[in-house]
Amino acid sequence: MSVLSGKKIVLGVTGGIAAYKTASLVRLLSKAGAEVQVIMTPASHQFITPFTLSTLSKKPVYTEFFNSKESGTWNNHVDLALWADLMLVAPATANTLAKMAHGLCGNLLLAVYMSAKCPVYIAPAMDLDMYIHPSTAQNLATLTSYNHVIIPAEEGELASGLIGKGRMSEPETIVAVLEASLSKDLPLQNKKILITAGPTYEPIDPVRFIGNHSSGKMGYDIAKEAVKRGATVLLVSGPTNQKIEDSRVHVIPVISAQDMYEVCHQYFDEVDVVVAAAAVADYRPKDVATQKIKKKADEFSITMDKNPDILASLGAIKKQQYLIGFALETENEVEHAKEKIVKKNLDLIVLNSLNDTGAGFGKPTNKVTFIDRAFHIEPMELKSKEAVAQDIVNKIMQHYE
Ligand code: CTP
Repeated sequence: MSVLSGKKIVLGVTGGIAAYKTASLVRLLSKAGAEVQVIMTPASHQFITPFTLSTLSKKPVYTEFFNSKESGTWNNHVDLALWADLMLVAPATANTLAKMAHGLCGNLLLAVYMSAKCPVYIAPAMDLDMYIHPSTAQNLATLTSYNHVIIPAEEGELASGLIGKGRMSEPETIVAVLEASLSKDLPLQNKKILITAGPTYEPIDPVRFIGNHSSGKMGYDIAKEAVKRGATVLLVSGPTNQKIEDSRVHVIPVISAQDMYEVCHQYFDEVDVVVAAAAVADYRPKDVATQKIKKKADEFSITMDKNPDILASLGAIKKQQYLIGFALETENEVEHAKEKIVKKNLDLIVLNSLNDTGAGFGKPTNKVTFIDRAFHIEPMELKSKEAVAQDIVNKIMQHYE
């Protein structure tokens, strides 16, 4: 669940070409569970219709103070401002930035802004010369001094055809900034978690490899859950179709067990927690053919070398790090899992038994048993992988309580 879930957001849309991106922005915010009230400036109607944004936000969009004469109603800027948990102005044109910085409130959006007591986020968008103009820089500095968060414009091709800074941040980035900012008070806010996920591919020749059926879903779900609780995540991922778009997750794609080993050791010193959810190949072909191997004899065998055990190698050098491993067993599950805790110097093991229906590779569900260093055993129900991810992150939180 996103930290934006249940949040009331006033989205101010002003008159720049980037206003077209607010359709996606409203969608993303709504998808994250936020309630979005769009307030547009009159000029922004030239770039996106109120109808589009009211349909997506499922609320009427406001632009004017006064509704039709017949209705005798008006849009109370104070009520709108007090309703909001946060206010986001995106895109914010140079004109609106200047007015916000100097207290001009000649339209509904500016009046709501002036009345708002909630945190304010501003995503500027304009042509590059306007963006670097000293007056814009001064206005942004003034707005920062009011404790507003500026979501900086990005480099790229601008609507004018010029290339430079001024493009509004992508909606995904804006949502990630809001989430990160709201996560600041979350329990894992200062924790960095390294998660391994997916299979590893061990090359045989330029076109073939030895792999496994791991989908990577478990590791990615843990990453998603950990960032929701405020953690920063390094996701060392073998080849998978899983996707994650969050500025707080740094995905490092790897192919083989050796690649994964090197990346994990490179970052180990700077992390607080490791969750080894990857299905790492235990062996790799001894010699990788440089050319595609041609079929000849009826039989073909490959000599394999043992891969390093990544988790055990981290367990051997761990200092303060909290280490969580997985164990996939088919018999004497608990005994084997306990042996792995000792052998790999783990703090917690998540045991999967292939004897449990609904558990294991490629399934949306999982049934796990937690076993800690003191061999305390905690069997869990069959759950979705998302719910298992929540249980695992709860265990991390308990460790820091
Ligand atoms: N693991 C690892 N590096 C490896 C093998 C496994 O980091 N080369 C990690 C996995 O990510 C998992 C845990 O170790 O968290 C357990 O893996 P598993 O394959 O169940 O255990 P093994 O040590 O390989 O033992 P065995 O194959 O004998 O069951």
